[in-house]
Amino acid sequence: MDNKILVTGGLGYIGSHTVVELQNEGFEVVIVDNLSNAEESVMSGIVAITGQQPEFEKFDLRDKADVKAFFAKYTDINGVIHFAASKAVGESVENPLLYYENNLGALIYLLQEMAKKGSAQFIFSSSCTVYGQADTMPITEDAPVKPAESPYGNTKQIGEEILKDVCRVNPQLSSIALRYFNPIGAHPSTEIGELPIGVPQNLVPFITQTGVGLREQLSVFGDDYPTPDGTCIRDYIHVVDVAKAHVAALKRLMHGKNSENFEFFNLGTGKGSSVLEVIQSFERVSGKKLNYRIAPRRAGDVIQAYADTKKANGVLGWKAQSTLDDAVKSAWNWEKKIRDYEEMSV
Ligand code: UD1
Repeated sequence: MDNKILVTGGLGYIGSHTVVELQNEGFEVVIVDNLSNAEESVMSGIVAITGQQPEFEKFDLRDKADVKAFFAKYTDINGVIHFAASKAVGESVENPLLYYENNLGALIYLLQEMAKKGSAQFIFSSSCTVYGQADTMPITEDAPVKPAESPYGNTKQIGEEILKDVCRVNPQLSSIALRYFNPIGAHPSTEIGELPIGVPQNLVPFITQTGVGLREQLSVFGDDYPTPDGTCIRDYIHVVDVAKAHVAALKRLMHGKNSENFEFFNLGTGKGSSVLEVIQSFERVSGKKLNYRIAPRRAGDVIQAYADTKKANGVLGWKAQSTLDDAVKSAWNWEKKIRDYEEMSV
């Protein structure tokens, strides 16, 4: 069996957790990362958990010549998990070409190399954003893909289309797109976790940063949505569960168990939680009151999105294990560790 896997963006948030799970399952990992949204210190966190040092090549996947040179050096790599991409929705609206170049250029160059191989497996990071505001909950994989709300969302839709087209004419290449719902939390060891640059745009890092006093107050974007408590509903999934799904998807392709050579799966828990429920979870697991206020709605937010997990559970043989409290608690432990935050004794 091919044992060496390329993980692009392997020093990033979901990438680093996936590297750990791959190593736990006996894979050798080569990480490619340009460190644009990651720190080299993540490597020591990975090594602290697994005791294994992945190989690391620092370069930008938008450089076609570098991508070619990489595969000329690592001829034994046939499996790729491709995380390297930009993910800030607002930034993508301001700078669409950066997003199209970064998220699609790199994908194309990687696939050009993979298509030359006798057999190759490719796992792609997609997003539940492809469903937009789905008409029914929970969201199954049959739900229609809606027009993208942002260039970021568009790169995920186009990325899936590219994979489908390329796999159709390259039967030796097989691929799975994983549509993430809302990954949160950190490794239970607190050796790796999320490291947002600047002010976090996502809910959970904003909450934990408010908890340690780095932010004054959380703004809850809207409490007049047609949901039970008026705040938006999402499917928050522990990042370690997300990481494990990548290993399950890769094994499916490596063992030739896929029914088509392009497949896609939802990665969620199946349970929707409102913004207020996430705040309550934080207060439960931290024992702290969170300073928050109700603010206007944020442009582009969907009202609710949570996954139907039957396809991933049945076909990948994978199921999210952690509860919301487990995931929020791990995010809180990580935040406290990286900020050297001392609990006040009571
Ligand atoms: C966002 C993106 C999504 C992307 C994902 C990846 C949008 C509209 N969606 O998902 O496309 O794949 O990030 O990172 O940007 N909230 C607050 N206060 C905050 C932050 C968030 O109330 O300070 C609320 C939001 O309104 C939302 C929920 O918390 O209801 C989750 O927000 P967030 O963590 O940003 O995730 P998504 O919007 O689901």
